[in-house]
Amino acid sequence: MNLIEKIGLTALHRVDPERAHRLALMSMKAGLVPLPGVHSTPALATHLAGLDLPNPVGLAAGYDKNAEVVDALTQAGFGWVEVGAITPRPQPGNPKPRMFRLPEDRAVINRFGFNNDGMEAARDRLKKRNRQRPVPVGLNLGANKDSGDRARDYVTVLEGCADVVDFVTVNVSSPNTEKLRDLQGAAALTALLKGVMAARDGQEKLLPIFLKIAPDLNDDEIAEIAGVARETGIDGIIATNTTLDREGLKSASRNEKGGLSGVPLFEKSTRVLAKLSRELDGALPLVGVGGIASPEDAYAKIKAGATAVQLYSALAYQGLSLTTDIAKGLETLLSHDGHAHVSDAVATDRDRWL
Ligand code: FNR
Repeated sequence: MNLIEKIGLTALHRVDPERAHRLALMSMKAGLVPLPGVHSTPALATHLAGLDLPNPVGLAAGYDKNAEVVDALTQAGFGWVEVGAITPRPQPGNPKPRMFRLPEDRAVINRFGFNNDGMEAARDRLKKRNRQRPVPVGLNLGANKDSGDRARDYVTVLEGCADVVDFVTVNVSSPNTEKLRDLQGAAALTALLKGVMAARDGQEKLLPIFLKIAPDLNDDEIAEIAGVARETGIDGIIATNTTLDREGLKSASRNEKGGLSGVPLFEKSTRVLAKLSRELDGALPLVGVGGIASPEDAYAKIKAGATAVQLYSALAYQGLSLTTDIAKGLETLLSHDGHAHVSDAVATDRDRWL
């Protein structure tokens, strides 16, 4: 972390977390945040579900919910960027406060509940983004809280935004919309994904479809999801979203309701990733998310079975420059282990997590 970032983060941590995040986005929009560009080498360039990533370190959904700073983010060091979640209609989300820092645990709890400007606004912004950048941009799809047909909502957003993004993620794992996680059950998930795949196949461009799952799943549920993924032919799985677990936390806000992310999520999400990797055995690529705060963490996810990774919470503690530090550190770790390419390390240490 550089000095400017340190001063900026110290100031931001004096402000309510949601406001602080808003200020960070506004500074980025105003061009006040130094952007290093994307670190890419032949060892790091990654092929993921038909996408070409300059490096495997991605931005997880929720950071830029409304696609407001996409051009800045594609120059911030990420090899790929996911924005959203976006629902068909705008909605306010849960009452404030709804985001909490857990500094002693290097974690965050949020219960936003898909607050967003809706599909039309996101589409307009994504349409204007700089398409020359080599960094794929995807959209996290959500469902409106008051929707009568949530499965239909995912299709609506996909159809509305397909031509302005490079991939989409079906997010059935947010803990902050009541009963949303029920869509992870085999029957509901199969029906949902079949609908999404049919909508995808109706588009001009072949858009990779990812499914994002929760970390709070048992082995049978993980195996079931792997089966549904194979059957429906989706392109990849993102593991994982935030957890409802509250084990071992020290910070004052530890009992706030919502999803926990950051360092305490690392082990749990990596175990789900490794189990999924065992079930799928290379049939489709996996993305590792949850608690990544260092190059070693990103490397551990890759060795547990991830082709690429994403992060969010650690950025609030270590700044955006962490992204490039992770990409560069990964290169060193790969070369130390004699791997010529990041793909050579995928799933090489999976058994450790099983
Ligand atoms: C999230 N996350 C999230 N995920 C998602 O699929 N759709 C979303 O809208 C959001 N929103 C969101 C808001 C906030 C404030 C946080 C902290 C997180 C989850 C996120 O993408 C990621 O899966 C988890 O945070 C775990 O990664 P980290 O944060 O431990 O690196």
